[in-house]
Amino acid sequence: MLDFLGNLKRTHYCGELRATDDGRDALVMGWVAKRRDLGNLLFLDIRDRTGIVQVVFNKETQPEAHAKAEQARSEFVVAVEGKVIKRQKANPELASGEVELVASKLHILNNAKTPPFPIEDEINAAEETRLRFRYLDLRRPKPHRNLALRHRIILEIRKVMDELGFIEVETPMLTRSTPEGARDFLVPSRVHHGQFYALPQSPQIFKQILMIAGLDKYFQIVKCFRDEDQRADRQLEFTQLDLEMSFPRQEDIFHVIEQVMVRACAVAGVKASAPFPHLLYKDCIRKYGSDKPDMRFGMELHEVTHCFPEEAKQKLQIEGNVFAFAAPGAAGYSRKQLDELTEKAKSLHARGAYFVKVTPEGLTSTVEKLIGPENVKKLAEACGAKAADLVVAVSAKEQIKGTEAAALIAGQLRLHLGEALGVIDKSQWKFLWLTGFPLFEWSEADKTWVSAQHPFTGIVDEDLEKLESAPWEVRSKGYDLVLNGYELGSGSIRIHRQDIQERLFKALGLTEEQLRRRFGFFLDALTYGTPPHGGIALGIDRVVMLLAGEKSIREVIAFAKTTAAQDLMAESPSNVDIEQLDQLGIAIQEKKKAAE
Ligand code: AMO
Repeated sequence: MLDFLGNLKRTHYCGELRATDDGRDALVMGWVAKRRDLGNLLFLDIRDRTGIVQVVFNKETQPEAHAKAEQARSEFVVAVEGKVIKRQKANPELASGEVELVASKLHILNNAKTPPFPIEDEINAAEETRLRFRYLDLRRPKPHRNLALRHRIILEIRKVMDELGFIEVETPMLTRSTPEGARDFLVPSRVHHGQFYALPQSPQIFKQILMIAGLDKYFQIVKCFRDEDQRADRQLEFTQLDLEMSFPRQEDIFHVIEQVMVRACAVAGVKASAPFPHLLYKDCIRKYGSDKPDMRFGMELHEVTHCFPEEAKQKLQIEGNVFAFAAPGAAGYSRKQLDELTEKAKSLHARGAYFVKVTPEGLTSTVEKLIGPENVKKLAEACGAKAADLVVAVSAKEQIKGTEAAALIAGQLRLHLGEALGVIDKSQWKFLWLTGFPLFEWSEADKTWVSAQHPFTGIVDEDLEKLESAPWEVRSKGYDLVLNGYELGSGSIRIHRQDIQERLFKALGLTEEQLRRRFGFFLDALTYGTPPHGGIALGIDRVVMLLAGEKSIREVIAFAKTTAAQDLMAESPSNVDIEQLDQLGIAIQEKKKAAE
């Protein structure tokens, strides 16, 4: 028989009982975390959001409560009345470990099936099982800590934004397509037969319109939706701190974000110091082989094409530049380890990987015969290789317009070896502003230039004239915020003139008809006195993930989806009733076979 809650009122949270409560009456409520039956004494560990307290049931002094406790099982929901007493021997593992609750009465408010995994921090359940039983997974202490941290970070961000004079404005979830480079989630309209809303990939157009409306400083903690491949740092729906300012210089936006990040870090006990360093995109690619470099370790890249004479280049089929770096202390790598590195490089589309070892006997190299000892020496020197280092050089199989393909491969190997050699100082917080992005990047799939960020990104004033004639040379007014190898945020000073915005759309290949249909309302809005403006959006999930020390944003999102884009708990996406589809005028086609 279950008991009713009735008029029972909790007096204390389990994890908050302390030695100072000694002798007090208490009523706690929570879940049975553990049960130990020693015959005359029965112990229940009771857990709530704050932690655990040990409750003792004595058969001799409280036979009724003891008998009831014998019925309690793991995860039963209970209320316990009793007296707090100091323990003879404290349990240092529990915050409440100096005391225990001597029970006088037990109320069993609900029972529970045996959970598929224990409700504790260290479990080895598959992530699929954890997501399917998310309510049990979230009952564990660590997810509680992560969600509480997320709450406090968002609260702090709102405070900072308010202090800086920003106003939070909600923008619509049912809207039209916003081009952020992903596919849209479409929502059919029942009233407007055959028409669709799109869920926002970001509030980009709306926040720019708010600047036209004179709001001056806007922000929003906002859900965005993107139908793209899932990764550890990507979800279909995720949360941004989105902001926009009128009449800003780039530095003004950086200053706002630096204040936000320093304060958000402080919430997690991390000391970040501002201002953050700046790096130009092209220097960053050449130095780290990445547009989101992990700067917690060195192993910087060097262009070493000059160490490969023409003849060697032909033999090795090297076309573009060669990039290299020195891996500290890796000269002892075996033949097998070098083969594995070569395989890894090839899987990243390298033409080849070439090695130099700095050994006590001198330099040895896998390409010594081809490039000669002088060049081997030059190669090692160019990378600043020291005793016992391994120099890793790579060339790329395919050259991609406007990019240093070999640098990108070397950048991946740098990360791989940095991790393998344990040289990444995990206690560091290395922020970086990246600027000087190209406005366009080449899309191999579409064989055309596409916006490197989004098509509202401003154009460096001096480069405007090259928009049509040499688009690959045009630099944008975009910037990214990077932390420890993750892109945390992205933004730009925008195009605020209608004529330039229209030119840009046309440079992207949009016809007059297409641009009127997709962006007509926005182009019109730009003609009514648009102030120069700019902004940025930070990925809140990524910020919280890093500050919580997690490796996946799924650990800081209450109801995350799997990498296969499913919510295993709510079983979505799901089929819907045929009547519902009929109302929307939708019929489901058979899935086309891949060959068709
Ligand atoms: P962008 O598309 O770069 O810029 O997004 C900004 C930041 O949002 C986070 N983010 C994601 N986080 C989790 N899952 C995803 N699928 C995902 N996609 C993006 C990243 C990223 O840096 N409107 C522009 C901003 C602007 O120009 O002001 C925008 O959305 O941390």
